[in-house]
Amino acid sequence: MTGDMVRLSPTVVVDKSRTGSATYLGPCTRSNVAVGTEQDAGVRSGVNALPPRPPPSRGRRIGALATGLAVLVSVALGAWLVARDAHSRSLDRSLGAYAVAPPEAGAPIDSALADLGARVFEAGCAACHGITSGAGVGPSLAGVTARRSPEWLMAMVLRPDSMTTSDPVARSLKAQYGVQMMVPGGTTPQRARAVLEFLRRVDGGG
Ligand code: HEC
Repeated sequence: MTGDMVRLSPTVVVDKSRTGSATYLGPCTRSNVAVGTEQDAGVRSGVNALPPRPPPSRGRRIGALATGLAVLVSVALGAWLVARDAHSRSLDRSLGAYAVAPPEAGAPIDSALADLGARVFEAGCAACHGITSGAGVGPSLAGVTARRSPEWLMAMVLRPDSMTTSDPVARSLKAQYGVQMMVPGGTTPQRARAVLEFLRRVDGGG
């Protein structure tokens, strides 16, 4: 089989030397091209130059899946962090309009401030405190505005660590709950004031 191997298409090879006319030899494969002519060498380098890719092994497919998944998770996490950051900055911007002095006893509830306080509570307190149910990681805050003063509550939210070392009530709560209260992301006087307004409204049934 020398001389006249001719490729008619990427998939068909014929041998003219045998019969004088083209004889179909079947699809162009590595073996029939390998015994062909110079012309076929072109075919070989053009069509069959690259060995067929082996199908990806199971391990590699799982590896690729894991990489894809990791990329997706980090993109989602990044988006969530950015959104949370934007949310927290917009909250602080809204809170900037309010004074931070503790409320006078019996002062009417500022419902816009209490709404912002509800957001502070959800983001920074709800993981450890319920407002209706029983205790979680920390005590239930139901009725807390009746058992503590506004000043005490703001101090507890702003500096829980120094309260549990220097304030006898906070210290005994810590002994009881066995955990040091910590507010994720920290807090500000504005946030403490807002969450207090929210707790006042909860206790007032508002
Ligand atoms: C990591 C859990 C955790 C988070 C988050 C947390 N607390 Fe606490 N909190 C506690 C624990 C535990 C105590 C009891 C004191 C201690 O052990 O430090 C407590 C005590 C309190 C008390 C005193 C309760 C009482 O009966 O006198 C108040 C008020 C309070 N937290 C408000 C808040 C507010 C408001 C936030 C959100 C800004 C918050 N806490 C976030 C765990 C937490």
